[in-house]
Amino acid sequence: MASRPTIRGARAAPAKNESNWQQRTELFSLDLSDEYKTYPMVTANDLRGRRERPRKVKMLMRDFIEDSLYNPHYGYFSKQVVIFSPGEPFNFNTLPDEPTFHAQMGQRYTEFEDALDAKKHDDTRQLWHTPTELFRPYYGEAIARYLMSNYIMSLYPRHDLIIYEMGAGRGTLMLNILDYIRDVEPWVYERTKYKIIEISPALAEMQSAQLLSTAASRGHADKVEIINKSIFDWDQRVPSPCFFLAMEVFDNFAHDVVRYDLKTEEPLQGVVLIDEQGDFYEFYEPTLDPVAARYVRVRHAATQGRYPAPYSSSRTMRWLKGAMPFAPNLSEPEYLPTRLMQFFDILEKYFPAHRLLTSDFHTLPDAIKGLNSPVVQTRFERRMVPVTTPLVHQGYFDILFPTDFRIMEAVYGAITGKLTRTMSHEHFMKSWAYVEDTETRSGENPLLSWYKNASVMVTV
Ligand SMILES: C[S@@+](CC[C@H](N)C(=O)[O-])C[C@H]1O[C@@H](n2cnc3c(N)ncnc32)[C@H](O)[C@@H]1O
Repeated sequence: MASRPTIRGARAAPAKNESNWQQRTELFSLDLSDEYKTYPMVTANDLRGRRERPRKVKMLMRDFIEDSLYNPHYGYFSKQVVIFSPGEPFNFNTLPDEPTFHAQMGQRYTEFEDALDAKKHDDTRQLWHTPTELFRPYYGEAIARYLMSNYIMSLYPRHDLIIYEMGAGRGTLMLNILDYIRDVEPWVYERTKYKIIEISPALAEMQSAQLLSTAASRGHADKVEIINKSIFDWDQRVPSPCFFLAMEVFDNFAHDVVRYDLKTEEPLQGVVLIDEQGDFYEFYEPTLDPVAARYVRVRHAATQGRYPAPYSSSRTMRWLKGAMPFAPNLSEPEYLPTRLMQFFDILEKYFPAHRLLTSDFHTLPDAIKGLNSPVVQTRFERRMVPVTTPLVHQGYFDILFPTDFRIMEAVYGAITGKLTRTMSHEHFMKSWAYVEDTETRSGENPLLSWYKNASVMVTV
């Protein structure tokens, strides 16, 4: 059984070239400085129309990650990623305890995959599960209660209840929220509109199919619109107050990578070079591109300079480390959530009256080396296989990042001017779920005890 959430040392060559970039090499790797000078710089956008993985090019790390995950032809999300559905919802109240829930889930996972394999065997199927699916419909009902309560308190009767959901997976949250509103507050349901913004064509199609095939959900069709595009291509202003849901989507937003010069503490930005064989090399440029530079400025202003760094704050320690043989002259990498900042720009520009509700992982086990670093993993023969670098064959690996909620909150506030509250997944569920629905006979409650590494942030 595999789960999304549970799931390099080197020395940088001294800068001896005119343009002052530094190739980060494993000790004996090739010198590709000539290629670096001559290969064109491309972006993920430039590569969208390409069916073949690029060669003889260079690009920023965020473009490399974005291309690996989202290229329409070979990207991870354009393949058949499958989100586990447990079939019938679990009846928690009849289960003896949490280990039994775990065992049942394992069994259903195997059955789910056996059924897929019976149609078409696939050793590289990428299968995940999310709390929306495991705790269906209770997870969605908790969110529906939060939405209805806030709608009634501050927007009713002047406004309709408008919900945007970015990245809706199988569409389960949408169904659970709409079912619940219809059953509990039909007069709010009358005034509800639900819009999904989904980048993956396959998942957008499944969301439509889900909506039409479930008997209970048929009535919702005129409430729902499924918009198959990336949030980063959004260009329509939505002036009305709306709720904006983003559950487990930030973790796949591309990041830039920087390393710091250990003498000057200046950041250098990571660039990926792909040679003519399709091999990857990392270089570090002393000047940040405008997006990364802006992120660094906004973060500094928003946090009053209080954020962690991937090197010791003590100059003596840094000097001592630097005096060791083969000591690196650059720090460990730090991954910057530059795409997340651009998402906040979209909210601010196109959804000025939104209220965000987002849940994601504040920490991830098995992450690669570095600060705020991702987990890079693929699933092979039904097992998760984590690797140690994001520079791997594009499209075969999930690359997912943790979210530093304290910094995210500050950056979101600085860009949108809105106030927020962050709490643990457990705290949110205790506040809004009927927790007795997910309690086992032993009193253990997986809705509360699972997803300890997830937090929730809401606009207040
Ligand atoms: C891990 S799944 C989470 C699904 C669902 N929210 C849940 O919790 O079950 C991430 C979802 O976000 C979508 N997604 C990722 N990046 C996106 C983007 N830039 N714009 C819109 N959707 C995106 C993916 O296709 C997928 O549906």
